[in-house]
Amino acid sequence: MSGQRLAGRRAVITGGANGLGAATAELFAAEGAQVVLADLDRAADAGRALVERIEAAGGTAYFVPVDVRDVDGTIAMVDRAAELMGGVDAVVASAGVGAPPTATGSVRQLVDMDAGSYDLVMDVNVKGVFVTCQRAAQLMIAGGYGGTLVTLASMASKRPTAGVYSISKAACWMLTRCLAHELGRYGIRANAIGPGYVDTELFRSMVVAGAGDDLDEQEVWVEARRSQVALGRLGTPLDIAQCALFLTSDESSYFSGSILHPDGGYTSTFGGG
Ligand SMILES: NC(=O)c1ccc[n+]([C@@H]2O[C@H](COP(=O)([O-])OP(=O)(O)OC[C@H]3O[C@@H](n4cnc5c(N)ncnc54)[C@H](O)[C@@H]3O)[C@@H](O)[C@H]2O)c1
Repeated sequence: MSGQRLAGRRAVITGGANGLGAATAELFAAEGAQVVLADLDRAADAGRALVERIEAAGGTAYFVPVDVRDVDGTIAMVDRAAELMGGVDAVVASAGVGAPPTATGSVRQLVDMDAGSYDLVMDVNVKGVFVTCQRAAQLMIAGGYGGTLVTLASMASKRPTAGVYSISKAACWMLTRCLAHELGRYGIRANAIGPGYVDTELFRSMVVAGAGDDLDEQEVWVEARRSQVALGRLGTPLDIAQCALFLTSDESSYFSGSILHPDGGYTSTFGGG
């Protein structure tokens, strides 16, 4: 345990088994929160291993399987999280998918995309965030204790360069603003994080979508992006987790409806700001 900035808080973290969600879960637990990692069955081994690491460090964590495309299953997941932790007063909605490959391998990411791929990305990145936040907000309102909702948007929320992924992240950002508008009166704050490039499994799927399977081409693609970052490096999952910690802690008590960009300066110095 390293701090108490989230002492007594009860957080649901979707996509909590890997990447940014996992780093957030570990940091939240170290700061005194109970955490539920909600993720796909196929991520259960990684999720349960993280639960063990958190518990070994003195924290409290649970793994609850969910596919956030399944509305009833997502509602049941949030209810189960509340049962395990004695309530829910924080959400970090990190479950997400990158741009799917197009049928032709073309960079024309919308013109060559089948409608099923469009639905997949929108269902996970928008509807899954909506249902998770909606159910958690209902419990927060019923409990009368307020809370925080943090969504993982992207700098792609402001940049039309990633096809349906950009569309989904723009929608995620507006969803967050609508939640902030509607829920402020209940003491519920909603904010989005718009990360830059962070080397995770999802990022690697974007690299393949952009550069194909050739490893040298992939390296060139990554280097081109890295060189556009003002700070000259890709982000780490901890860079993003620290932003989620700020937006969940009382230190951000007057933030709602905002999007923060832990992106090494990319959005405001290169494109999209
Ligand atoms: N990595 C980046 O560069 C980056 C940049 C901007 C935004 N983001 C966003 O941050 C979030 C986390 O991304 P990441 O890089 O940690 O990705 P990741 O692939 O490492 O982790 C995503 C997690 O979401 C889970 N997931 C996927 N579909 C799911 C579903 N239907 N139901 C439940 N869980 C599901 C996966 O199993 C995985 O554990 C995503 O929303 C992503 O769009 C990432």
